[in-house]
Amino acid sequence: MAQKEILSMKNIQKSFSGVHALKGVHFDLLQGEIHALVGENGAGKSTLMNVLTGIHPKDSGEIYYYDRLLNPRGPKHAMELGIGIIHQELNMMDHLTVAQNIFIGREFTKQKGLFLDEKTLYRETETLFKRLNVNIDPTETLGKLTIGKQQMVEIARAVSHDLRILILDEPTAALSNQEINDLFNIMRDLASKGVAMIHISHRLEEIAQITDRVTVLRDGANAGSRVTKEVDRQEIINMMVGRVIYEQPKQESTVKKNAPVVLKVTNLNAGKMVQNVSFDLKQGEILGFAGLIGAGRTETARAIFGADKVLSGSIQIKGRPVLIKTPEDAVNHGLGYLSEDRKRYGLAIRMSVADNMILATMEQFQKRLLINAKKVQQEADAYIQKLSIKTPSINQLVRNLSGGNQQKVVIAKWLIKNCDILIFDEPTRGIDVGAKSEIYTLMNELADQGKSIIMISSELPEILRMSDRIIVMCEGRITGELDIKGATQEEIIKYATMRKTGAQAYADSAE
Ligand SMILES: Nc1ncnc2c1ncn2[C@@H]1O[C@H](COP(=O)(O)OP(=O)(O)OP(=O)(O)O)[C@@H](O)[C@H]1O
Ligand SMILES: [Mg+2]
Repeated sequence: MAQKEILSMKNIQKSFSGVHALKGVHFDLLQGEIHALVGENGAGKSTLMNVLTGIHPKDSGEIYYYDRLLNPRGPKHAMELGIGIIHQELNMMDHLTVAQNIFIGREFTKQKGLFLDEKTLYRETETLFKRLNVNIDPTETLGKLTIGKQQMVEIARAVSHDLRILILDEPTAALSNQEINDLFNIMRDLASKGVAMIHISHRLEEIAQITDRVTVLRDGANAGSRVTKEVDRQEIINMMVGRVIYEQPKQESTVKKNAPVVLKVTNLNAGKMVQNVSFDLKQGEILGFAGLIGAGRTETARAIFGADKVLSGSIQIKGRPVLIKTPEDAVNHGLGYLSEDRKRYGLAIRMSVADNMILATMEQFQKRLLINAKKVQQEADAYIQKLSIKTPSINQLVRNLSGGNQQKVVIAKWLIKNCDILIFDEPTRGIDVGAKSEIYTLMNELADQGKSIIMISSELPEILRMSDRIIVMCEGRITGELDIKGATQEEIIKYATMRKTGAQAYADSAE
């Protein structure tokens, strides 16, 4: 049966001051299909979707929706017409409950609208979660959930409408493997009910796994559309970046034999997710922290960095015991932390690219309280070049950059700071294949210069490609340590799932 075309975007043009983001893009969608939209950071994927949902008006071109001309006035209007979008950066109210977030603007009332009907609100949410097979407490405050769970809530919110098209802008970037599986099941289920989906992702393996067709954008224009079954990974990469990218695991450690230990963490305890964590980091080493999402890796990093309270344990830097109580202390001791959640911790999105870059290093650019604008300009320009950050100028507001380019600005910030020890938490999340390999090169350069790096990553190919040594965590404890030589994905997974057995948990609690 030929599937019906429900959406056709024709010759869409969109410019922002100084940036020609969409240069006559075409895009169409069939009923019930899952259609991948891919391309490098800044290629125009999110912008195209923002045009479709009326978040940004298009400059020219037409959108046909069920064969009729569509002029979306905004996301609310689009949603009423059955087009929902899950944004790249989460977009909800942290202080409200899960259920309140789902039905925000559509509150249930009783007694002629005088009172909010909480009972119906929570019952409806429960029904919805049951349908989606989601296990989240509707009465929980949203901000208390992991990013992965929060995203599930946002998806549930879209699904709670009469959906025809669901746009998922990098939905899996923050999800655990289990959550990704759950999401894909939901997506397949929606597709079988005729809902069409546009799936934006930088994880090429997902495209083969879940999508029917793939459309590639390159620099604001179409680079091709294919049936997924008929293309391979390399072809998609070629369409995206137009050059060959090598993806190979590291063979053996490149750390010098007599390299000194620069960071020594002993019996660190910080809440439930950091239990007796001990490890060494050597000069020039890239130490991979592997594990499932929620294994306690970010919590360990935050505790070391002074962002969370440490209960006990000690930290030595270059052989000297140090007391790190706040992130400022950490920075003063030469630590840098590139957080996994760039919007919350890493970036001031209302400030410019240049200001964000010098945020951690202001004093270097100051002379008697005056900022040396020329120095800032030079430094910022240099890093825009070095990291290929796509921005019209150093004065662009960070909120106007594409997601991947925002991540690069955070990286630049810590590079300018010239820290000796860098903690990269999911450094390439949301970053395209080309830029990924640039960031890998950069990390290797830093290690060669004698900097030490802790790299937290949930992507095993990334762990195997970058690390000299691998530490694996599970449920707040270190469960394994592997040299890169001979390390395999299977072995890492074995340690990553080494949960405490009943007896072990009992013995530990008696200690
Ligand atoms: N509101 C805005 N103001 C100015 N420029 C913008 C705005 N939104 C997007 N842009 C620019 O338009 C271009 C396309 O950005 P877009 O966010 O669509 O990229 P993307 O393909 O989604 O990238 P990523 O994979 O990094 O998310 C980029 O150069 C970006 O900086
Ligand atoms: Mg985007």
